[in-house]
Parts: sequence; C-alpha cells; structure tokens
Amino acid sequence: MSKKIIIAIDGFSSCGKSTLAKALATELSYVFIDTGAMYRAIALYFLRNSIDFNNEEAIEKALTQIKLHFQFNPSTGKSDMYLNNENVEQAIREMYVSSKVSEVAALAAVRDFAVAQQQAMGASKGIVMDGRDIGTVVFPNAELKIFVTADPAIRTERRYLELAAKDPNISKESVSENLAHRDLIDSTREHSPLRQAEDAVVLDNTNMNQAEQFELALQWAKALI
Ligand code: DC
Repeated sequence: MSKKIIIAIDGFSSCGKSTLAKALATELSYVFIDTGAMYRAIALYFLRNSIDFNNEEAIEKALTQIKLHFQFNPSTGKSDMYLNNENVEQAIREMYVSSKVSEVAALAAVRDFAVAQQQAMGASKGIVMDGRDIGTVVFPNAELKIFVTADPAIRTERRYLELAAKDPNISKESVSENLAHRDLIDSTREHSPLRQAEDAVVLDNTNMNQAEQFELALQWAKALI
C-alpha cells in the first residue's frame, strides 16, 4: 500500500489553489480541505451578527457559537462549507464577504480556532489542504508544500470571468482592487502572514493551464508516495 502524505498548497488569492488541490485530492483519493472557506464562513457569521472586529471579548464569544463542517456534494464533486448546519457555500463567495474576510482572518483568536480544526482534520494524513499558512503554520512538517503564484493581471482576469458569469454587473476594477487589498492584508498581517515556506516548491501558473499544473503537481506528489 502506498504511503499517505499531507499536501499543503499556499499562495495568493485567485491563483487556482483550490482547483489544483481538489483535482489532486480526487486523483489520489485524498480528503480536500479549502481552509479559505472556513475563514469565509467565520466572516459571514461575524457580518450577519454585527460582531465588532476590534472587540476581543465579542469575538471570543462569537467563536463559541460557530460550528463548521464540510459535507460532500455529489453534484459538484466538492465538499460544501456548512456554518451551524446551514449550507453557506454560495453565501461565502459573495463580494461583501470577500471584502471583509481578510480582516477576520487576521484576528489571532480566529486563526487559533480555525488552525486547531485544520490540524485535527489532517491528523491521519491523506489530505490536500489549501490556504495561506498551511505549509508554514498548520502543517510545517507536510511532506509536499506547493506555493502557487501567477501574474496579478492574469489572476484578475480569471477571477473576473468566474464572478461575471454569476453577476454581469461586476467590474474588473472592483475584482482587481479586492485581490490587491486581500493580498496586502494576507501578506502583511502580524499573525501567520502569507509567505512561502523555505522547503516549498514554487508553481507559477501564469502561462499554464489547469491540466498542465495538475500534471506537474501530481508528479511531485507521486515521487513522495
Ligand atoms: O482562499 P480564499 O480567497 O477563499 O481565502 C479567504 C481569505 O481567508 C483570504 O483573505 C485569506 C484568508 N485565509 C487565511 O488567512 N489563511 C488560510 N489558511 C486560508 C485563507
């Protein structure tokens, strides 16, 4: 039987990390965890309940009211994010959540809450997890760490096409601003900022399609399994 490993995929917003992580997990029959969805669900709860991001006590209390779980959705082949037993997979992708999630993800109490759950999910390995701090903080001993990057203009274009399919009124400028804003907060925050782990392999997919990057990452994984 082949060895089960942990694959950590980190990188900037809209680099295609989740698509790659999901494809690898499917190919290897591993569990796929989109940790960004967890921060988005927490942000959604905070926004719905008007939690003041500067009030540590309110934040601690709110976290005790939040139950997160993933549930496989056979129609998409992906696990949906549930917040207190409500499927929030669509709601967490809305722009009003995207515009606030980086502030929520920068809070130490929120990170402790999410990271503990992520570590428990990976305890028996056989997992592909994507995020910003997976190779540096969540699983510093992951066997394979991939740091994904792409040119910002390409990332904007990809994200814009994805969002415009659902909302034709969306502007490319707003998508570009949101990406730049999130990248800045994610990489400059005090707690677990986005950075490349020293032992991560870089995957720049600016000029690659999904199949090409999948093949490359699969080769890296197979060499370790
Ligand atoms: O990957 P995403 O765009 O869905 O992530 C949403 C936000 O959560 C993003 O601003 C960065 C943050 N995040 C994080 O801080 N740590 C993670 N492991 C995953 C996401």
